[in-house]
Amino acid sequence: MRDALGAVQSVLVLGGSSDIGVAIAQKLARPRGASVVLAGRDAAALQAAAARVRGAGAGIVDTTAFDADDVDSHGELAQKLFAQRDYDVVVLAAGVLGDQAAAEADYREAVAVWRTNFLGCASIAMCVAQHLRRQGHGTLVVLSSVAAERVRRSNFVYGAAKAGLDGLAQGLGDSLVATGARVIVVRPGFVTTKMTQGRESVPFSSTPQAVADAVDNAIRRGSEIVWVPASLRLVMAVLRHVPRVVFRRLPL
Ligand SMILES: NC(=O)c1ccc[n+]([C@@H]2O[C@H](COP(=O)([O-])OP(=O)(O)OC[C@H]3O[C@@H](n4cnc5c(N)ncnc54)[C@H](OP(=O)(O)O)[C@@H]3O)[C@@H](O)[C@H]2O)c1
Repeated sequence: MRDALGAVQSVLVLGGSSDIGVAIAQKLARPRGASVVLAGRDAAALQAAAARVRGAGAGIVDTTAFDADDVDSHGELAQKLFAQRDYDVVVLAAGVLGDQAAAEADYREAVAVWRTNFLGCASIAMCVAQHLRRQGHGTLVVLSSVAAERVRRSNFVYGAAKAGLDGLAQGLGDSLVATGARVIVVRPGFVTTKMTQGRESVPFSSTPQAVADAVDNAIRRGSEIVWVPASLRLVMAVLRHVPRVVFRRLPL
């Protein structure tokens, strides 16, 4: 349960080695030495992430196995995690960028992106929401993307998965109204992380720290949708209404 000043005391990161997930855990854990659980596939990467979170001032930092693709395990995993403690914040940061060209050449590449980014994330989000509802408090932070707002030709496989997850997260948030639990949908543009390593930075780029600051603000203010940077909200409000014949010619 958050303390009297609203500081977070327990955080779960699903996709625990994510650069954005780690930055959010560091930001939220720092003020009160919150306890953190990092859940993911790669034990070594999780240990390295745990050291970074501890270094930022977290209290107890544990790691545990989580595979977004293994949806059959999600119910039991959520049960186990929430039996150990309540969570003030659960960050859903698992995701893959995929390779658009490869996905267009072989549908199985696309299915793999959708399996992780939509099916896997939606599945664990549903499980987590049940426990947040039972707790009567807690925030699920879902890493969507600006790509979800209007799906672009250049990365429509990833964008479609994020659009599905974004819609699911909004609906889940609506279903939690008046339960004490809630959902924040985060829509970053390009963020400099290992996911985007080697790619040319684009306008409206940001950092994991900027995403973490925005999430921290949203938790304090009760916002439901967060754009990073905030100016992307206006940009996308315009782009959303650009006629399709024009939109598909834009260099996006
Ligand atoms: N970077 C950006 O520009 C950007 C922009 C908008 C939204 N996002 C979203 O933000 C989230 C975090 O991304 P990031 O930028 O922090 O990239 P990142 O550092 O590459 O983090 C992605 C994380 O997802 C994990 N993951 C992948 N597949 C998984 C699976 N099947 N089960 C469990 N974990 C899995 C990876 O762990 P492994 O070590 O196991 O691979 C990795 O820790 C993602 O959802 C991404 O789509 C990123």
